[in-house]
Amino acid sequence: MAKTISVEYRVYDGPDALAHAAAEHFLEEAQKSVAAKGKARIAVSGGSTPKRTFALLADPQQKFLNAMPWAQLELYFVDERTVPPTDSDSNYRMTREAMLDKVPLKPGQVFRIEGELPPDEAAARYESTLRNQFKLEGAEVPRFDVLALGMGDDGHTASIFPHTAGIHELSRLVYANKVPQKDTWRVTLTWPVIVQASEVFFLIGGKDKADPLHRVLQGPYDPETLPSQLIQPKSGKLLFLLDRDAAALLPPTGGSGVGRLEITR
Ligand code: 6PG
Repeated sequence: MAKTISVEYRVYDGPDALAHAAAEHFLEEAQKSVAAKGKARIAVSGGSTPKRTFALLADPQQKFLNAMPWAQLELYFVDERTVPPTDSDSNYRMTREAMLDKVPLKPGQVFRIEGELPPDEAAARYESTLRNQFKLEGAEVPRFDVLALGMGDDGHTASIFPHTAGIHELSRLVYANKVPQKDTWRVTLTWPVIVQASEVFFLIGGKDKADPLHRVLQGPYDPETLPSQLIQPKSGKLLFLLDRDAAALLPPTGGSGVGRLEITR
């Protein structure tokens, strides 16, 4: 049955303004969740885009370090490369260096995907962690309070790459996805878990993302080629935080800097 998603995209001048907007959004959503439930379970993606945002959250010169309800947070990862946590490719290492080493999160509040293990084992262990932490039974799917995604210039998100089996993985919570085009394996939340989150937002910047983003949002539905199109949150809403370069091919937002699209699939 066709489903309509209300997409909101907010366009910022450049990478610093975009990072600040993302930090504000993390803060706002974390505070909302803690106020409602006493905790906030946040899942973050890796890559390069989130670095600036993580640095702002940890910056003592910014309001976020004092304002974030760190003691009530649980931090999870959307995906991980199959490398040790000390490797320069590790999403965990990037997040630790940019933020975790500088904020008051205890080790028991951070749930790392063990990229150093064989992929299937890392996926199974992370799935078990999710089942335990979310107290899942049977086919229940964890509902993250906030889940931040990036998008590659090939239209991938998380570690669900074009023409990979991860596109079709519907039963597992965490999957070891073979990515031939990168000659590697990745460990990733599956898209049924991602879309279950209460608040899913994409954080995308740069000229190289303009065309794929335009195709994801306004092109024909083709998730084999554009896996980001799989992200149709159960909440019915999806937010994109973009810089001008990434938003260049989307309908102009006028003076507001905010655009809206209703996408039916
Ligand atoms: C990863 C990410 C991935 C990332 C996109 C965008 O492990 O690389 O989870 O999905 O969000 O590849 O990466 P950039 O932010 O580096 O463009």
